[in-house]
Amino acid sequence: MSEAPAAARADRLVEWRSEFPTVESTLYFVSHSLGAMPRGVEEALRRYAQTWKTRGIRAWEEGWFELPTQIGDVLGGILNAEPGAVSMCENVTSAQAVALSAVDFKPPRNRLVCTAEDFPSVLYLYEGLARRGAEIVRVSAGAGRRVEEADVVAAIDERTAVVAISQVLFRNSQLVDLLPIVKRAREAGALTLIDAYQAVGTVPVDVRALGVDVLTGGSIKWLCGGPGAGYLYVSPRVRERLEPALTGWMAHERPFDFDSGPMRRDLGARRFWTGTPAIPAFVAARSGYEIVASIGVGAIREKSLRQTGHMIALADEYGLPVTSPRDAARRGGTVVLDVPGAAAACAALLAGDVLLDFRPGVGLRLAPHFYTRDEELDLVMGRVRDEVRSAGG
Ligand SMILES: Cc1ncc(COP(=O)(O)O)c(C=O)c1O
Repeated sequence: MSEAPAAARADRLVEWRSEFPTVESTLYFVSHSLGAMPRGVEEALRRYAQTWKTRGIRAWEEGWFELPTQIGDVLGGILNAEPGAVSMCENVTSAQAVALSAVDFKPPRNRLVCTAEDFPSVLYLYEGLARRGAEIVRVSAGAGRRVEEADVVAAIDERTAVVAISQVLFRNSQLVDLLPIVKRAREAGALTLIDAYQAVGTVPVDVRALGVDVLTGGSIKWLCGGPGAGYLYVSPRVRERLEPALTGWMAHERPFDFDSGPMRRDLGARRFWTGTPAIPAFVAARSGYEIVASIGVGAIREKSLRQTGHMIALADEYGLPVTSPRDAARRGGTVVLDVPGAAAACAALLAGDVLLDFRPGVGLRLAPHFYTRDEELDLVMGRVRDEVRSAGG
């Protein structure tokens, strides 16, 4: 048998590229925002429509009703969760709203500790909790919008009901070390609620090793699952004491009894459902989850660190300011470049089929994923350099 070329030996993950048609027609560096669509989604959605058309209401018993639990368990495998501990919902915001609706914010324990760098959607949600008696403690960020774990730890005390923080910050891609935060929260008797959207699928997340109580994420980004499918992991340790006020008939232990109450909550994953599940979104999400699960996030992370490291080295060579962490242990999957005129540079690059994005305050965000070829790193960084230079930056 002949030897594979060294590059191919080094990067077996690129074999998955043929499953993602979009990445061939663009420089696809935006998986932190919208992962590429797996080829299988088109056929899965066609089959969904066919089932609805030919089987009608029987479709519920022929797969639809089971689907959220099944794909929750695929995610559970990625997260090393206990079976049945991942509930599907619509997005991170709704997942967090369900979890937070189970918390009483009553003095003396009425504080929610979060950070200024959490995603705005959840910050708006936390702001609204003030109406339910919550006192919001927002830990501020330092230079480069970095959040110090020690500052979060120091903000937690016996008045804290919930510690709600992001694992990877969406602006600068800082990977937050959750262990000291979870440990302090546990000691203080507070519930941990982690937004792991920017981590899951690119950074290995082990909910059991971390000891988190509740973790939320979505599908659009690194999991390549498209919009409409969020998820909520709840540790069996806390599951039974969480009784969400934001609930619905699908969370009942026997929904088809149509019992008018009082509510008897399911003890499994349906406990955190609300109403009728978003079946087409879950059908679309499945392929991406299965691909990520079968590659394994450990291998994805190894490749991501190698490729983002190379991009940072090129940025240094071209004089492009890097705001994402240089230290691999502190970096998520995205490289952030605070170049002059970043908004205009982003628009120009998008017009030339370089898919990336821009966030005010930090600049350009670019992310390789498991389907990225090494050659594309040089191409994309060259395009950014040329764009910045031609704009006079
Ligand atoms: C860290 C983080 N949390 C949450 C969201 C979005 O939440 P939702 O699923 O509610 O749209 C994003 C990005 O869209 C994000 O980067």
